[in-house]
Amino acid sequence: MMKKQWPCLVWGTVKLGRTTQLRTPVHTLPSDTEAERLVLQMVALGIRAFDTAPAYGASETRLGVTAEPHISISTKAGETHEQGQSHFDFSAEGVKQSLARSQARLKREQLDLVYLHVHDNDLEILEHTEAWTTLLEAKEAGVMTHIGLSGKSPEAARWALKHHTDALMVPWNQKDQSHTDILDEAAARNVKIFVKKGLNSGELSASASLQWMLEDSRIHAVVVGSLSLKHMQENLEVARAVRPNQC
Ligand SMILES: NC(=O)c1ccc[n+]([C@@H]2O[C@H](COP(=O)([O-])OP(=O)(O)OC[C@H]3O[C@@H](n4cnc5c(N)ncnc54)[C@H](OP(=O)(O)O)[C@@H]3O)[C@@H](O)[C@H]2O)c1
Repeated sequence: MMKKQWPCLVWGTVKLGRTTQLRTPVHTLPSDTEAERLVLQMVALGIRAFDTAPAYGASETRLGVTAEPHISISTKAGETHEQGQSHFDFSAEGVKQSLARSQARLKREQLDLVYLHVHDNDLEILEHTEAWTTLLEAKEAGVMTHIGLSGKSPEAARWALKHHTDALMVPWNQKDQSHTDILDEAAARNVKIFVKKGLNSGELSASASLQWMLEDSRIHAVVVGSLSLKHMQENLEVARAVRPNQC
């Protein structure tokens, strides 16, 4: 169970480090200088949580350079993305190496939250690889305080709920409510739900969508991807209006 409360708006940073194989509109990768400025501006704005992953290219390194210690950071293990292609490694050794790399890049001895980052065959990975057990053992050893699953299917999310997950990152928006039963089951177990693709990769109205999601008490926080300070300021205003005590 995850005791710590996260801010209800988490900055999703895939666009900070990667440009290929994304569902969001095409964008240009920020330079190192632009990325550093943007991270500092997000912190100054009042954003207190970031979501990253080895699969987000330069994102982890860029956050590690500037993120202050009071910022909560979630990262992932299982997928990397190089030269426009995703690669997966769910072996025990692969997961351990990924965690050590995240600690180094994020400049943190202990990570806050690490999700297993799985592809379409999510349930198979959970049932037939060493990845989940390796995460549980790493948590026991203090490598991170919490673990979670960022998966695709409700079946995989349900498996994680039965196997000691602290958090789930699930797709959820006005067009995709495939995880509705999972939201109920997670609430019953005090497992925190973090929403991804809440704006359907930018297709839905940001303010209406955010308000709709944050009015749902089963959702702990929404991860919104953006490279725009103005957009995140608008998102923060909506989040603070709906949940003044959690943003
Ligand atoms: N498997 C996984 O683990 C996984 C998969 C997908 C996503 N995620 C996480 O979830 C995050 C979000 O997912 P996502 O990027 O796919 O989708 P999303 O949050 O649904 O949409 C992101 C898009 O919305 C736009 N946007 C944000 N705020 C806006 C506003 N106020 N007004 C207008 N447009 C706005 C952004 O454009 P601008 O840059 O122009 O603001 C961006 O292109 C990712 O960054 C990542 O951290 C994880």
